[in-house]
Amino acid sequence: RDEIAALMRSHIAEFPDFPEPGVLFRDITPLLADGAAMRRVIAYWCSILPPDVEYIVGTEARGFVLGAPLAYELGVGFVPVRKAGKLPGSPRSVSYALEYGTATVEIAQGGLPAGARTVIVDDLLATGGTAAATIELVRDFDAELLGASFLIELEGLGGREKLGDLPVDAVWSVPN
Ligand code: PRP
Ligand code: MG
Repeated sequence: RDEIAALMRSHIAEFPDFPEPGVLFRDITPLLADGAAMRRVIAYWCSILPPDVEYIVGTEARGFVLGAPLAYELGVGFVPVRKAGKLPGSPRSVSYALEYGTATVEIAQGGLPAGARTVIVDDLLATGGTAAATIELVRDFDAELLGASFLIELEGLGGREKLGDLPVDAVWSVPN
């Protein structure tokens, strides 16, 4: 775990005051660009996910690039959560508040079987707004939600608290 923390420290770039003053942006691009580091992180992440998971749910966009390799490595399904307006048919939608305005996330009609043992993954847990909306979406399908797991958890923004009593885990937790 110490080795993973060191690897994360060296592969996540930090940009102060982006996208607005006072925010320290964590950029996963250097990790994505290093194949060996990605393999180590994905292998470690798989080892801390619930072993009986059947579906990985990942949120557009950065939840796709991390969720797909996790699902592939585990040999389970990947279900994309898309931003509004991308899915045909009658997708399920949940809207959530952003600092300015709202955002909507969607899963395709029939995208997740009832009772499916599901874990939500994403690159980052910050305020928890995205994850809370995704949880609502997954529960709307009557899936069995086992937990939410993040590459990076920013502690101190109240994200974990917003997710109720759902088990929450992270590869790397940082103060903020
Ligand atoms: C970012 C990040 C998480 C979310 C975390 O996504 O990838 O999904 O914000 O923030 P929260 O806990 O406060 O909701 P964003 O929608 O900015 O963009 P992306 O399409 O690059 O993933
Ligand atoms: Mg995102």
